[in-house]
Amino acid sequence: MEKSRPKIILSAAVSIDGKIATKNGESKLSSKPDLIRLHKLRSKVDAIVVGKNTVIRDNPLLTVRFVKGKNPTRIVLDSNGKIPENSKILKTSPQVPTIIAVSKNIPRKNLAKLERFPIKIISTGTKTIRLKNLLRQLSKQKIKSILVEGGGTVIWQFIKEGLFDEMLLTITPHLIGGHESINLIEGFGFQNISKSPKLRLKSVHRLKNDIVLNYVKM
Ligand SMILES: NC(=O)c1ccc[n+]([C@@H]2O[C@H](COP(=O)([O-])OP(=O)(O)OC[C@H]3O[C@@H](n4cnc5c(N)ncnc54)[C@H](OP(=O)(O)O)[C@@H]3O)[C@@H](O)[C@H]2O)c1
Repeated sequence: MEKSRPKIILSAAVSIDGKIATKNGESKLSSKPDLIRLHKLRSKVDAIVVGKNTVIRDNPLLTVRFVKGKNPTRIVLDSNGKIPENSKILKTSPQVPTIIAVSKNIPRKNLAKLERFPIKIISTGTKTIRLKNLLRQLSKQKIKSILVEGGGTVIWQFIKEGLFDEMLLTITPHLIGGHESINLIEGFGFQNISKSPKLRLKSVHRLKNDIVLNYVKM
């Protein structure tokens, strides 16, 4: 029998004050050595997950480029199919395996737009994507490990639902501040520390001016 969900690693580069992007959506916090580390990790997982806003703001490729290795499947959470046709992810879908997760309420026009690309479309949930259901379907498709690369809203949802095993955080030497910048964890947050997940620090690794922290869920 398949395991009900893949192994999930939450990953992000944060400023010292825990931000993953400025108010304007600038998010290039990673140093070259950290990007090399990240791409090595990408090549070892079966899939990468990001939210729709990250695709719209950053237009990432989510491939393995700084090291040699295979590209994982790219998965975008996009309930209403809003990512643009000219996004790098859709444009490179003939070369790199791509899944767009949508909800059952996706407007027809947007679904038709996505269907023009050689991607897999997984539909779950009515208004928003049901992560547990999506992960079950991914397990059936032999996806055994997933790197969740953000943004803050997606990371919150995985944490809130207890759907993660590890967290890899790179603390970068930047100070961003501001209550409109993007936090590592968005959403409502936990009201009580006793209800929030407790993590164990597995390793600390210094990369010049960065610190890579690897936490596992207890
Ligand atoms: N520094 C870093 O490591 C890093 C990494 C990644 C991103 N970022 C930054 O993060 C920012 C974006 O973060 P964000 O919090 O605004 O958005 P996000 O997490 O990228 O995307 C959130 C959106 O994903 C969609 N979604 C669909 N199903 C979902 C589900 N089950 N749970 C959660 N979201 C779901 C929702 O839109 P729909 O309802 O329309 O589907 C939601 O609004 C960008 O500025 C980017 O630069 C930084």
